[in-house]
Order: sequence, then C-alpha cells, then structure tokens
Amino acid sequence: MTIKERVFSGMQPTGTLHLGNFLGAMLQWIELQKTHECIYCVVDLHAITVWQDPKELRRSIRQVTAAYIAAGLDPARSIVFNQSQVAAHAELAWIFNCVARLGWLNRMTQFKEKAGKDRENASVGLYAYPNLMAADILAYRATHVPVGDDQKQHLELARDIAQKFNGDFRAGIEERGHADGIFFPQPEPVITGPATRVMSLRDGTKKMSKSDPSDLSRINLTDDADTIARKVQKAKTDPEPLPSEPDGLKGRAEAENLVGIYAALADQTVPAVLAQFGGAQFSAFKKALAEAAVARLAPITEESARMMQDPAAIDRILADGAARAREIATPIMDEVKDIVGFIRA
Ligand code: TYM
Repeated sequence: MTIKERVFSGMQPTGTLHLGNFLGAMLQWIELQKTHECIYCVVDLHAITVWQDPKELRRSIRQVTAAYIAAGLDPARSIVFNQSQVAAHAELAWIFNCVARLGWLNRMTQFKEKAGKDRENASVGLYAYPNLMAADILAYRATHVPVGDDQKQHLELARDIAQKFNGDFRAGIEERGHADGIFFPQPEPVITGPATRVMSLRDGTKKMSKSDPSDLSRINLTDDADTIARKVQKAKTDPEPLPSEPDGLKGRAEAENLVGIYAALADQTVPAVLAQFGGAQFSAFKKALAEAAVARLAPITEESARMMQDPAAIDRILADGAARAREIATPIMDEVKDIVGFIRA
C-alpha cells in the first residue's frame, strides 16, 4: 500500500493572526491547495496549553477560521475545521504520549521559551504539546506540513514518533499488509513561504509573535490601514540608508527584516528591492512598505470582518470540515487501535 500525498497544517487560535503567520505559512497553504488534498486546522486543543478565556477562545476560533478563508483557503476544496471537533487528535496524542520519550521532549526549545523560569507552574499540556502536534499530522497520515521556520524542531519530533511507532509495532503493521512495515509516513516540513521567519518590528532579533506584549511588534490581520501605517512608521531601524546589495544587510537585523517583509508582500526578490531602494532613507522605504502591507492585507481584513458578522455561517463551515476530517481519521485510528492491541466494537 503506498501512502498518498496529503497536506496538514494548523494555527493556534490565541488572539488574531499576524503577518508572520501569513507570510510564513498561510501563503504556502493557499498554493498547496491547488495541487494537493489539504487539511487546515484551527488548533484549539493546543491553544489551551496556556490559559484562554473561554469567550475569547470561541471568538478567536471563528476569527482564525474567517482569516483562513478571507486569505484564500477554499473550504469546498480544502478541509477547514477546529481540532477539538475530531476526537482522533486527542486519542492519538495519548498513544504518542506513550511512544515519545521524556528525553525527546526535554530538548524542545519552545517549551523552554514558553514555560520561562516558572517551569513548575507550566501545564502538563504545554510540555506534551509536540506529541499532540505529531498526532494532528499523523491522524491523517499526512506527508507534507507547510509551516514557518520555528516549527522545524516539532516536525523533527513528529518524524521520530512516526518512526518509533512503526518500529515498535512492526510485526502488526506488516501483518496488515503495509509495505516495508511503514504505517505512519515521515511527514516532510515544507518551509518555503516567502518569509519563513518574520521578526518583530520592535526588535529584529525576536520572532514576530502573538504573545509579544507590545502590539507595535506585529502587524495583525485585523489591523486597519492607519494602524498598519503607524506600526510601520514606528518600526525600529538603524540610522544608515538602505544598502543596494544584500551583503549590506549583514548585522542589520531590523533592516533585513523590513526588506524581507517588503519583498514578500510585493512578490519581489530581496536584490530587486535593494536595487530599487538602495541609498534611500528608511522614511521613504517605510512609506512604500506600509502601502504594500495595506494593499495585500486590507481585502483580507475586510472580508474577515464581514464573515465575523455571521458566526453561525463560520460554525457551519467548521462542522462540515470536521465531518470530512473524521471520515479520513476514523479508519486510520481504527487501524492504530488494532495495531496497538486494543479491542474495539
Ligand atoms: P502558530 O499558531 O504559532 O503559528 C502558525 C504558523 O505560522 C508560522 N509562524 C511564522 N512564520 C514566520 N514568521 C513568524 N514570525 C511566524 N510566527 C508563526 C508558524 O511556523 C506556523 O506555521 N505548533 C503550531 C501549530 C500546530 C501545527 C500542527 C502546525 C499545531 N499542530 C500540526 C503544523 C502541523 C503553532 O503553534 O503555530
């Protein structure tokens, strides 16, 4: 039996999406749905690994769904749903909790960053988060996972889990006729967005992130044109004019970030942007950058806001997506249960 190509990815509904999510992941998602069977999830189970106000969470799940669709995901073609509606995620995550080793999770840098100094007080869910992420992907035996650069380590763990599961249960897997004893594929990260690591507008060495306390550090997909212009204007830079060659960006993290963002938004290469703006002051470049961001994001922001007027319609999309997701995951989970040695009705 050969494993067919299938794409899975997800975003956390913790606040609104930002330019990093859009340039790092979403644009690839939209590309991939032209050629692949794609499953795009709003990962609400992941969101509660840190405290979420229930009302805000519900709103955020709808907001992220609206942003997916407004940005160009087609729910008729791709499967769009929220994770908690499909039980397979949590079920497989438990099995993976028993496959993955403590030592593997101890190496995860994201846990260290998110737990901070108060590790004792972090939720158990935050620690086991990467196992759930592996379950998300492998519950569909997905082969390709379009993400930003920061998810690389989690994807490596998902590959290790797939391999260990295949090894631990090899006899049963072969008995069921899977070629070469492979039940779970090794999911491939697809890290090829136009900007795979978008940095904070306030600090070019820090990732643009939903959890940064400063809203000025990021451009949200809900920001209006004036807010975008103000944030770009306030973005940190250095006093030098823009260089005319990429080499001139070395050691200038903020300049490099802004040029990278502009290139991604305007569908240009970095050398082409520098050929155009080399020698210019940041004031002029920032004006062009704000215009490019507004041109690209305003239609998405407007369409999301329109969709948010009708939450019931969003909920219908999620319910339909969840039903289609279950159709794929249920037979896979049935087989997993047989392989592990459970008895089912
Ligand atoms: P999350 O919600 O933090 O981010 C969603 C996606 O956006 C990308 N991203 C970025 N890309 C470039 N620059 C940035 N500053 C930036 N910030 C975020 C992320 O790489 C991601 O692709 N663990 C995941 C969610 C998840 C998942 C999965 C992803 C759960 N299960 C299964 C893929 C497959 C996360 O927290 O992403």
